[in-house]
Amino acid sequence: MSLAKEIGKVHNEIYKTVNGNIKVLLPIALTLLDKYKAKTRLGVAKPVEEIATEFGRTVKQDIDATLMRLQTEHPEISPLLRTSIESHLNEIGAQPESRINQIVDYISRNRRFLEGLNQEDFVGILYETMVSTEFDKQDGRFFTPKNIILINVEIMRSLLETQHADLKLLNVCDPCCGSARFLIYWVESIKRHFWKHHFLAPETLNDIFSKIYAKHLFGMDIHREVAGYACWNMLFHGDGATNIANADSLNHYGFVVHWKLVQQFIREFEDKFVETKQRIQQRELQDKLELIESKKGSILSFKDEKEIDISSLGVMDLIESINSLLEVHSKVSIKWWPVIQELHRLKDFDSINEIMKFQWSNINEEVEKGFDMIITNPPFGRGENLQINDPYILGQYKLATEAWVGDLTKTLLEKLLEKQFDKRVEDFYLQCFEEMGIEHILSEHNVKFKELSLGILRNIASASSIPVDGTENKNSLVNKLMDTLNREIVNEDDYVEISNVPKSVVKKVANEILFEGEGNVKKIGEFLTSKITGKLRSEWIKIEDVFDYDHKLTLKDSATGDEHTIYFDQDGKPMLFKNQLPKQVLFLEQFLRMVKDGGKVFTVIDTGVLSNNDDEYARRFLFKNSKIHAVVEFPHNAFKAAGTGVKTAVILYEKTSDPPEDYEIFGSLPQKLGYVLNKQDTPPDPDNNDIGKTLCDYREYVGLERLCDKSEEECDWATSGYCSVWRAEIEKVEE
Ligand SMILES: C[S@@+](CC[C@H](N)C(=O)[O-])C[C@H]1O[C@@H](n2cnc3c(N)ncnc32)[C@H](O)[C@@H]1O
Repeated sequence: MSLAKEIGKVHNEIYKTVNGNIKVLLPIALTLLDKYKAKTRLGVAKPVEEIATEFGRTVKQDIDATLMRLQTEHPEISPLLRTSIESHLNEIGAQPESRINQIVDYISRNRRFLEGLNQEDFVGILYETMVSTEFDKQDGRFFTPKNIILINVEIMRSLLETQHADLKLLNVCDPCCGSARFLIYWVESIKRHFWKHHFLAPETLNDIFSKIYAKHLFGMDIHREVAGYACWNMLFHGDGATNIANADSLNHYGFVVHWKLVQQFIREFEDKFVETKQRIQQRELQDKLELIESKKGSILSFKDEKEIDISSLGVMDLIESINSLLEVHSKVSIKWWPVIQELHRLKDFDSINEIMKFQWSNINEEVEKGFDMIITNPPFGRGENLQINDPYILGQYKLATEAWVGDLTKTLLEKLLEKQFDKRVEDFYLQCFEEMGIEHILSEHNVKFKELSLGILRNIASASSIPVDGTENKNSLVNKLMDTLNREIVNEDDYVEISNVPKSVVKKVANEILFEGEGNVKKIGEFLTSKITGKLRSEWIKIEDVFDYDHKLTLKDSATGDEHTIYFDQDGKPMLFKNQLPKQVLFLEQFLRMVKDGGKVFTVIDTGVLSNNDDEYARRFLFKNSKIHAVVEFPHNAFKAAGTGVKTAVILYEKTSDPPEDYEIFGSLPQKLGYVLNKQDTPPDPDNNDIGKTLCDYREYVGLERLCDKSEEECDWATSGYCSVWRAEIEKVEE
């Protein structure tokens, strides 16, 4: 049975019943799931049978009661889930009793749908189906095929096995979590491992898995409703801690990126805060203001600071104070303090730094130092909606604020050379020629007679015994040389010393000698590259290497050792080398910032990032800051059901400040993924699946045992086109 198909059928039927207001299905399905979970907890032998008879008697009040109970049963439930429960209560409340009865009756008679309740992906698929018509796929909101999630978590777990990691203690995050399916499949993968290798009592195992859900799994999604569904999914799988945040995971630093504005806030603080206290009389708001006042010392300590530690208590005080003032402002407009109004306008979500350091580290203090791993599928591709051009987000990324030397345009490069070598660029080029032993112009430099001065032309003429009349002007001499020598280009016979030629010719010769490639697409050559990297001791150019700036802010993270500098112009806007970048490229950097040293990232990207000439900077960035372990490239249409034909891959990389110079990367190109690639709804096709083979190859590559005990030649994949262990134990295909 295909769970997605069954859920789709139920969804479509109910869609008709409720005239498109499909949201009502979710609270009903959650009530059903809750009842089912209660049965399985009690060890009922045939839970589906019992549910089938009992659920049909469910009425509107039962659904309300279940939702309320879930709230009270889990005191640590996230505010996000609370809001989601409230909106479900409203949806149920708005429906007539008879309609609820009709839906409940239909569901309770649908045996195949009820059988799906035991599948770990029930909530994920239900949600996916419900929103598939509403989702804006252009925006990168679509769902990952199960086999792609599974290969991601299985390869990740295999790598961790080779490093003897304690799987139950690893802190895992999906920063673009959707309905949290990556996190849920991750735990399924650990469960498989434990059941196979650890012979512990079921209660002990359950305890371990509940703890994983409560303390070690974290997710974020920018869409509030989506994040709410992730909470539900976590609630039904774990113990109710639901560590899911509604956040923009590309916004790591939050307010501090608006440092000029924050400085203005600090400068005005003493006066404006006194006024605020006088004007605001409400008791509960005054308490808030008193708390802010107690942090005054911290706030003022950041005046004129150019370097801050984003893990420090001081920064926490500063951010919490601003956040509290914004809360006050949302209740009573603080119109006498324009900076607060501006900060309020800028605030959408808590920043990732705040969430990790000041919120989630209360659940698990290790999170402050970064996650152990990230498994995810961020929006990939390059459509207009998938680009970031907000300078305050781009400013947070080295990929935008630093330029890889090979990407420098000629104009930027010459600016850099003048600043770094403190001389005019023509003089710098002449120095290069001297070092390279190039003394005179050769024919390959393509210098024309007409580009030279009259004096040099006279020398060329006399060296070639061409009579020169002292009254001739430049044009007539050029014509005479061209006619007599039958060429317009200077060559070695003319022996024109480079140091004597006009500056424009020096630049032209430099273009021939120091740059590679044709016409306008010339790239910086090896000699210049080594000059620059020798001087800067890096292949990456910073803003201050090229430009003047108004002020800068260095953001240090004492918990992770990471550091990033933002340079600002006079208006307080971050200065950039790149004014637009695809989200997927920024995410590559952001994921590294979110994991600790040695932390692993497994993410989906479009394959262009791996191969496009123009994306070399992104690969260079990864090679500089991480070690790449594996790349699995999928065939076209792997994401067809999501409405995108972008060719994709998953890449596994590990954060390290000291990556090896030269190393092997595991690569795999599965052609069949266990679902039909050329049909729009990609129905399951478990008989054609190379993914198990990819996993087996990876395991052998890293020195682990294969999935089955047969040799590579005799394995089921070689004989039948699919791996039977993958099919039965990992994908769990229902036969
Ligand atoms: C391709 S979907 C993958 C969802 C989920 N991981 C799955 O496969 O089922 C990408 C998800 O990232 C979320 N997203 C997009 N941009 C984001 C951002 N800047 N911060 C956090 N989440 C984001 C979208 O709302 C969407 O749920």
